[in-house]
Formats: sequence, structure tokens, C-alpha cells
Amino acid sequence: MTKRYFGGKGQPGVYHTIINQIPPHKTYIEAFLGGGSIMKYKKPAERSIGVDLHLPALQQFEMAHLPSIAALELHHVNALEFLKYGNMVAKWGKETVVYLDPPYPLDTRTSNARYANELTDQQHLELLSIAKSLNCHVLISTYPNQMYQHQLESWRLVKHKSVASNGEVREENLYCNFAEPVYLHDDRYIGENNDKRMDITRRIERNKRKILDWPEVERVRFLNELKSEMTEFENEYLGNFTRNAR
Ligand SMILES: C[S@@+](CC[C@H](N)C(=O)[O-])C[C@H]1O[C@@H](n2cnc3c(N)ncnc32)[C@H](O)[C@@H]1O
Repeated sequence: MTKRYFGGKGQPGVYHTIINQIPPHKTYIEAFLGGGSIMKYKKPAERSIGVDLHLPALQQFEMAHLPSIAALELHHVNALEFLKYGNMVAKWGKETVVYLDPPYPLDTRTSNARYANELTDQQHLELLSIAKSLNCHVLISTYPNQMYQHQLESWRLVKHKSVASNGEVREENLYCNFAEPVYLHDDRYIGENNDKRMDITRRIERNKRKILDWPEVERVRFLNELKSEMTEFENEYLGNFTRNAR
């Protein structure tokens, strides 16, 4: 059986919320991989990289997901060193997304459970400074705390709920260094909750079927009109979709 990570992002509602914030990308890097819930539930990128200091977590992830995730690389190294070095060598750009789910600062914990590897406050500060220097799209999960809020003040904040290992409902923060994306890497989970997600899927399916019933010539005209509207929208949107913070 798969080990459940406290603070793991595999709960329904939690991984949906995070994946709904991930813009299109070719390379996906998840440092502090643990059970790797986001990498596991989102559509694979052309290249996926997981980093953790806990070797059994990497081995377990590799065993379970190697066949389903193309070009998967797992690195048993310190995430801080990996991020610093990787950015320096490869100069990650807009086609790269980095998702970070570090151990929570110790003063936000409600349970006494600990990872084999923890970060000191000094290391959290160093991580945030590295994250701010990355030249790509970055998302960071944490429990609400002053250090992150202060350091990432200019980042966009998405608040959501999760259930902690003691059953308590907790608020979690997801910080993003980019504007809210409309184009997503994986749009299967759009909608704020399960009911809305099902409504959206049904509405899209219903309309699609309706249009597929039209005579071909009408369908093609409709498609052409939609395309021209969308091209305008896309040009404007992609032009504006810039990182809103460093
Ligand atoms: C909050 S958990 C990640 C949970 C994961 N998102 C999930 O859904 O299962 C944090 C992980 O960070 C790892 N870790 C702690 N310090 C690290 C470091 N300096 N470098 C790399 N990984 C580290 C721990 O081993 C742990 O697996």
C-alpha cells in the first residue's frame, strides 16, 4: 500500500485546486516530491523531474509511476541545491513549471509527525529566495505563516482547504508567481468543487453532441467562426500572461 504523506496533496479537492493553477509547460519539476500527488494526477509533461532527500519515497514513486510518466527523472538530492544549479545551467523559461511542497515551517504544525528531512527557518528563507530568482512559473504550497506571506507578498495567493492527519480541516496557501491562467496544462479538473466539475463536464459534452449532430457544412462554418474569435482572444491573453512577480 502506498504510504500516505501527512501534508500530502492527494486528497480530492486539493490536487484538483492545484492542478487548476498549472499553466501549459514542457518540463515539470516537483521538488519535495514525497508521494508526488500532483505529478501523479496531472497529465505528464514531455519531461518530468522529481526531487526528494528521502530515498524510499523516490523508489516507491518510481515503481508505481515509471510506466505511466514519460521521461521521468528522479533525483536524490537537496532540493535547494537542485533548484539553484538547475536554473543556473538550463535557464528554465516559460515552458518550465516548478511546484514546491516543502515541509511546513515547524510552528504551523498541529501534529508531532515529522519527515526524515525538515527545513530550518533559515533554509525556508533560502528556499524562498531561490524560488524568487527562478525564471519560470513557480507554485509553492504551505500552511498560512508569516514568513511565507512576507517573502511572497507580491505573489498571487490561492487559499484552499485540506484535511490534516488528525481529521481537522485546515487552510492551505498556494503561492504563484504568475497571473491566473486560463490555458491550463490539464483542464480535466476545472470547477471549484465536485458538483461544479460534473456540471461543467456535462455541459461541454451536451453542447458538443448537439453541434456534432449539425450538417457538416454548418459545423465547419461554426468551427471557423469560433477559431477566428479564439485567435483574437488567444493573442490578447497570451500577450498579457506574464509573470506578475519575481
Ligand atoms: C510536504 S512533503 C511532500 C508531500 C507531497 N507533495 C505529496 O503529495 O505527497 C515534503 C517532502 O520534502 C522532503 N524534503 C525535506 N527536505 C528536503 C530537501 N532539503 N530536499 C529535498 N527534499 C526534501 C521530505 O522528504 C518530504 O518527502
